[in-house]
Amino acid sequence: MDQQQWTAVVAAATRAPSVHNTQPWRFTAAGDRLDLHRDRERALPVLDPTGRQQVISCGVAAEFAAVALRATGVEADVELLPTPEDPDHLATVRAGATCDVTPADTALAEAIARRHTERAPFLPRAVPDEVVERFAADAGRLGVWLKAVTGSEEEVATAFLVSRAEELERSDPGYLAELERWLRTDPAAVDGIPVGAVPEEDPATRPSNWLVRDFVAGSRAPHTFLPPGDPAAPPPEVERPTVVLLGTDGDDATAWLLAGRALGRLLLTATTEGLAASPLTQALDWPVTRTRMRARLSLIGHPQMLLRMGYPSTRGGSVSGRRPVSDVLRFESAR
Ligand SMILES: Cc1cc2nc3c(=O)[nH]c(=O)nc-3n(C[C@H](O)[C@H](O)[C@H](O)COP(=O)(O)O)c2cc1C
Repeated sequence: MDQQQWTAVVAAATRAPSVHNTQPWRFTAAGDRLDLHRDRERALPVLDPTGRQQVISCGVAAEFAAVALRATGVEADVELLPTPEDPDHLATVRAGATCDVTPADTALAEAIARRHTERAPFLPRAVPDEVVERFAADAGRLGVWLKAVTGSEEEVATAFLVSRAEELERSDPGYLAELERWLRTDPAAVDGIPVGAVPEEDPATRPSNWLVRDFVAGSRAPHTFLPPGDPAAPPPEVERPTVVLLGTDGDDATAWLLAGRALGRLLLTATTEGLAASPLTQALDWPVTRTRMRARLSLIGHPQMLLRMGYPSTRGGSVSGRRPVSDVLRFESAR
């Protein structure tokens, strides 16, 4: 593998979604191996004190690297936490033998550039059950379970916990200050969340059971919960996205990395199906709501990622920036 090949792989890896678009990763390429380290300088101490979401983000980046490598006709082997004495060394992606590239490999790799987080309301069209079953089977191969949050009781309980967590967050000055630090008004910003990628309206006024995270909560006037408009007009159609929960039996760095890899694969497969998604992780940010979710959904194991999914109503959507590859990749000579 030469420098140009690794540069292309890392460019794909860095398109991975990451919590608040922090891109908490560093890469080192040496010969046939690409090492991924977590960058603790890009942590979110208020939202993510344990680093769980940071590690999940890095797990997605490792999966995107493997998908990109495979699509060039090279086997990709991912080893998690390869250096026991260095917990920040999260993964090594090894380039193996040459292999045939299937149309599915190409489709997944092409989805990397198209995928983005879609927070706008989805079209009123359910995600087919067989597609959700495929997501579950793919996640299962990585040891990650997927649960569709469909039963009315489970849906109500989960939506309530998301709203409760969002409410807790909106009243936490530390959370709001951290959020503001990662919000970007410059469309050319290379990290953070561009204001163009988040809903302008207060998510609490959207006709949906599911509350997307309000990234501009800190600068909003207190809302009345009464949307403007003609009170005699028929009520707007309530959005009913498909909501899925990814979880793991354990709750350590290995589990978080596997959840990230499964999330990466799911998001790319979803993109190839014309679907889009946005995480609803507020309820998982807080130990109290995360624990309650385990109890209310009778989960055996640990919830890692809650996602709303559906068919996007807009074309393209807003693309968030990424740091240049040269900022996150360095080359070493092969050992
Ligand atoms: C672990 C994790 C948690 C996330 N949580 C949320 C969330 O609660 N709400 C949300 O709207 N987006 C969430 N996101 C999406 C990121 O904000 C998004 O990936 C990032 O801004 C980059 O944008 P992109 O996905 O469009 O490339 C999360 C992403 C990851 C990986």
